[in-house]
Amino acid sequence: MSDIKLLAGNSNRALADSIAAYLGVSLTKCQVRRFADMEIFVEIQENVRGQDTFIIQSTSFPANDHLMELLIMTDALRRASARRITAVVPYFGYARQDRKPAPRAPISAKLVSNLITRAGVDRVLTVDLHAGQIQGFFDIPTDNLFGAPVMVRDIKERLDLNNVMVISPDVGGVVRARALAKRIDAPLAIVDKRRERAGESEVMNVIGDVSGKSCILVDDIVDSGGTLCNAAEALLSRGAKEVRAYITHGVLSGGAVARITSSKLKELVVTDSIQPTEAVRVASNIRVISIAPLMGEAIARTAKEESVSSLFD
Ligand code: R5P
Repeated sequence: MSDIKLLAGNSNRALADSIAAYLGVSLTKCQVRRFADMEIFVEIQENVRGQDTFIIQSTSFPANDHLMELLIMTDALRRASARRITAVVPYFGYARQDRKPAPRAPISAKLVSNLITRAGVDRVLTVDLHAGQIQGFFDIPTDNLFGAPVMVRDIKERLDLNNVMVISPDVGGVVRARALAKRIDAPLAIVDKRRERAGESEVMNVIGDVSGKSCILVDDIVDSGGTLCNAAEALLSRGAKEVRAYITHGVLSGGAVARITSSKLKELVVTDSIQPTEAVRVASNIRVISIAPLMGEAIARTAKEESVSSLFD
């Protein structure tokens, strides 16, 4: 791996360090600083001419700053004659704005994909995109890794699979939840949120018999925690024994951590695609598992021109 260069923006230095350790390389010396007026300034302090380069940067909070860092780092690498630039974006922000839900709405996920491509990125490596079709927003090779194998390993180590049921917290997440259920050979249930009439509060219907089950909610994003906590309530009120959640991207904004710690969720497990805050680290019912080996392996295979999809066979 001595002929690759790994660079880290400021979004998730801890993950970048873990990936570098997995690959047995040091992060390339690079300063990503602010001018007095908060403009971003990047200085790559090692020669990268002709090198296979990987920028590790989630576009997580503050999303706009972290996206801009990624774009400017890409520009710096391109002007420094890097041979290939891969944007390693464990959490791809703006992904929820992937279609026009109303007239005159932007498709920001497409705009961000254009920005990254135009800046000079050659390939993208990401994890659990909110919608798989976002891969097609990039006109460059894009590998969308699955967090499921990391979650499955953790579930198998900790839980009795005989009584487990996997739950999608909404209809939109069924494909993702079904894929995980299949890997652990567990049944699937679905929480169906519905507003029967305008102005009335949402009704939570549970499709499937969850009574006495150890439920595992599976989703790509936990942001405010609303979807998760409401789904947990609905499951417990229908007789579920306990409810855990495995969610790839712990966005956890605003009062999400407080909402989750005071909820009836037994445990929320998120990956380190987004750097956990201190509040997340000390939360009694939130645990972080690492995707560093998965990302590291995908980077190694990309560098050696080997199959990345076979990581999931
Ligand atoms: C929605 O489609 C996503 O998969 C998540 O369910 C959603 O983003 C979670 O948001 P929140 O935690 O704010 O309810």
